Amino acid sequence: MKSRALLRIASLATIATLTSASAPPSSSLPLPTVTVFKDPSCGCCKQWVEHLREHAFNVIAKDTSDISAPKRTGRVPEHLYSCHTAFVNGYVVEGHVPAADIERLLKEKPKVAGIAVGGMPAGSPGMEMGSRKDRYDVVAFNRDGTTKVFERH
Ligand code: CU
Ligand code: CU
Repeated sequence: MKSRALLRIASLATIATLTSASAPPSSSLPLPTVTVFKDPSCGCCKQWVEHLREHAFNVIAKDTSDISAPKRTGRVPEHLYSCHTAFVNGYVVEGHVPAADIERLLKEKPKVAGIAVGGMPAGSPGMEMGSRKDRYDVVAFNRDGTTKVFERH
């Protein structure tokens, strides 16, 4: 049983190696570290962390029982609160923001405090619900509480 499990892990690792070896050089560049604060019992948070890892982000996931504390630290406007709060390169990332939008944020470096997907829209990364895809906005916010649409989905 034990050795079978190890064998399975080993073969998965081989697949992972082959996949990364065939990826174009640009996507093999290490992306910055994203520190995620999440509730230990939140399943969709874990799914979002996996989504980021699949997109080559280095993720440090930190469990906390006071999930509003990092939101206050990051000056996330209350109407944009979601389940988890992340920090990357001085930016705040609140909720189920797609990895591609974080990549764009880090590339364009706009003068904002962060970006957020308020609530937990069905169909956003980590909130997959079969074929259901709700439309939602990724909203950029500033420390003074002003907001602007960053991306529409
Ligand atoms: Cu969630
Ligand atoms: Cu979450």
